[in-house]
Amino acid sequence: MKKITNICCIGAGYVGGPTMSVIAKQCPEIKVTVVDLSEARISAWNDENIDNIPVYEPGLSEVVAEARGRNLFFSTEVEKAIDEAEMIFISVNTPTKTYGAGKGMGADLKWIELCARQIARVSTTDKIIVEKSTLPVRTAEAIRDILANTGNGVNFQVLSNPEFLAEGTAVPDLLSPDRVLIGGDQTVEGKEAIQALVDIYAHWIPKDRILTTNVWSSELSKLVANAFLAQRISSINSISELCEKTEADINEVAKAIGTDSRIGSKFLKASVGFGGSCFQKDILNLVYISRSFGLQEVADYWERVIIMNDHQKKRFAHNIVKDLYNTVSGKKITFLGWAFKKDTNDTRESAAIYVADELLNEQAKIRVYDPKVKEHQIYEDLDYLNTRKPEENKEQVKIFEDPYRACENAHAISILTEWDEFKDYDWQRIYDNMLKPAKIFDGRNILDAEKLRSIGFKVTSIGVK
Ligand code: UDX
Ligand code: ADP
Repeated sequence: MKKITNICCIGAGYVGGPTMSVIAKQCPEIKVTVVDLSEARISAWNDENIDNIPVYEPGLSEVVAEARGRNLFFSTEVEKAIDEAEMIFISVNTPTKTYGAGKGMGADLKWIELCARQIARVSTTDKIIVEKSTLPVRTAEAIRDILANTGNGVNFQVLSNPEFLAEGTAVPDLLSPDRVLIGGDQTVEGKEAIQALVDIYAHWIPKDRILTTNVWSSELSKLVANAFLAQRISSINSISELCEKTEADINEVAKAIGTDSRIGSKFLKASVGFGGSCFQKDILNLVYISRSFGLQEVADYWERVIIMNDHQKKRFAHNIVKDLYNTVSGKKITFLGWAFKKDTNDTRESAAIYVADELLNEQAKIRVYDPKVKEHQIYEDLDYLNTRKPEENKEQVKIFEDPYRACENAHAISILTEWDEFKDYDWQRIYDNMLKPAKIFDGRNILDAEKLRSIGFKVTSIGVK
């Protein structure tokens, strides 16, 4: 098999953009072209001002600056890039279906299918297709089926290469991953295709961290990895509610159990609930495929992880209402943070959206400050819920660029994202300008509650009585 010299990636989002940028940085002899249907997105990736690239990730702009124009290109010429490439990564979004069979559960593969058909139509040379999006098990088969029936004599090999990067740490995760997983057919041609992709990653990743499997194991491993991670958060969050009723402190419990090397210390941080584009979607998918095979107990088991997460978000909002004398109508509540975690501008499935929705139902007025999320995104997130009219969201929710202004005359502050900068604020100044009693609901347990209490704040932390 000859060496790959030309790669194309379809989809310039949170996965495709950073992943291809790092591949281009590490493999200067390979031409990498990232294409997207969205002209706005592509022109943002090409913006002369490197700070305007559409994905915020620490360290990413440096990587893009190094490779862009050298061997990394962003373009809307999808067909040209497909035709020229020897290897095509599919990195388009696969949201949960909002209609028909599997609504609210299965992944919508419309975009994937469109991609496969487009590849089939324009390809004139043999290609390796790499699934990079999180996809339900057996998607590779569907892609292969579409590609195999084009009848133009082109050979396609389909690989599954799930992405394990976490947002906010995408660049370090890509530069030194725990492992890279590549699934492919166990035929001679399939093994050659796997080797071609192994050779790319081997530019910078030790060989023993590059695992190869059959396609189905690779696809399922991605869903299961995310389900296990999310399950840890739901487990600790379930205990946080018990801690709030007893004298146990969730931070102490997490530390105590995390020192058991069989349990491990990561992903035990109690929070207002997990968000992000993957966890919920992937678990729903796992539930859906389990159910479709008639595995009711398996499906019910994993579904509880989501149910617990929804409960945690609702519970947090209800605690705010309860603590503000059972009414928040007309009260100003300031949200510090809107992103689903720190160091990203991504807001998909962020707990903040659902907490805001609950409070807006109670007629609260919400003030939002987030260091990286743009104003229009916050309104889009709320409008997407379809709970109230866009004009009402505009009226009830105001966005601020200055956190101190956002907190002025507020009845309460709620921490929804664990941005580091919140810890360094002049909390005395914030206190002085708030209505009293000034309350803080720390949904991430990042603030020093003792210190805030000495200023005069009433502080509520997750999992602490
Ligand atoms: C996740 C997986 O970690 C990654 O491997 C996969 O490729 C994509 O999905 P991501 O969603 O980007 O990554 O972020 P992650 O760090 O996993 O956090 C997900 C959510 O869980 C966030 O809302 C985060 O705040 C929350 N979380 C995480 C907790 O509430 N407590 C924790 O202990 C850890
Ligand atoms: P992810 O987190 O999986 O990267 P994003 O939504 O950030 O998801 O990115 C997916 C990108 O894929 C979007 O920019 C979208 O415009 C693009 N996209 C979806 N379908 C196609 C397609 N058929 N051709 C090219 N780009 C596509």
